[in-house]
Amino acid sequence: MAGRVELDHVSFRYPEPRPLSGAPVQDRFGDSGVRIEHDGTGVGDGWALRDVCLTVEPGQLAALVGPSGSGKTTLTYLVPRFHEVTEGAVRIDGVDVRDLTASSLADAVGMVTQEPYLFHGTIRDNIAYAKPGATAEEIEQAARGANIHDRIMSFPDGYETITGERGYRLSGGEKQRLAIARVLLKNPPVLILDEATSALDSETERLVQEALERATRDRTTIAIAHRLSTIRAADVIYGMSGGRVVERGTHTELLAAGGLYARLHAEQVGRLGDPGGSEEPRSPLRV
Ligand SMILES: Nc1ncnc2c1ncn2[C@@H]1O[C@H](COP(=O)(O)OP(=O)(O)OP(=O)(O)O)[C@@H](O)[C@H]1O
Ligand SMILES: [Mg+2]
Repeated sequence: MAGRVELDHVSFRYPEPRPLSGAPVQDRFGDSGVRIEHDGTGVGDGWALRDVCLTVEPGQLAALVGPSGSGKTTLTYLVPRFHEVTEGAVRIDGVDVRDLTASSLADAVGMVTQEPYLFHGTIRDNIAYAKPGATAEEIEQAARGANIHDRIMSFPDGYETITGERGYRLSGGEKQRLAIARVLLKNPPVLILDEATSALDSETERLVQEALERATRDRTTIAIAHRLSTIRAADVIYGMSGGRVVERGTHTELLAAGGLYARLHAEQVGRLGDPGGSEEPRSPLRV
């Protein structure tokens, strides 16, 4: 699988909330007042995504930026089919995701979210979950690639350390690296990355960043990007607002265009007190 991802005139609306009792909730033309709130720039008519076209070529990194509620998470969830399009189609290598089996879709798409799910079990099993039957060597190699091996080895029980709800509580940065280890082990052609917004100490930040570089290399990546370094490394940036893609280009192109991205960038850089924007902020770019 090459990993070409395509959203073709995709629109999506979340199912209407169920009424507690009585008459069904009316649609947007009714008087029920049911509205899905947008970021203020959208039409606010209940569509979380409207007519989104997006193509990411194999191995490319696409960054999604846009205000809260603009549809970034919703968009990424359509790729592994956590949600299904209302209109249009999502394709991987030209195949509609609705025509893929659940297992081939799971093999094709890896996820690194802000709060990776860890089940109660050993760290080894939590990594191996991505590839049942993986050898100890493969697991360790993935952990090394994700910059988490040394940390795991510093625990008295190493890979046998129990984690999850009632076990050893991994830190945010450790959890993220564990999620990256899963991706390296599974080696899917497509990666969805929801970059953490929480600030990490600079050493952890470096370890996470380096691990992410390995995970995104030679892999189609759609990143909800908050770090300037990720956004700058992107082959293409999609600016989202009110469920629509409102601009598309590289960091340099979009800064020059003076639109949404340029505004978000200026706000962020201004807040960080670095008007030149030349240095990587210590905290992630919250756009
Ligand atoms: N489960 C849901 N049910 C109904 N509406 C939802 C649901 N999840 C999100 N929405 C709505 O869909 C729109 C897009 O939300 P989404 O979470 O995709 O935005 P986002 O760009 O990821 O925002 P953020 O930067 O805050 O994570 C918003 O109007 C939001 O309220
Ligand atoms: Mg989101």
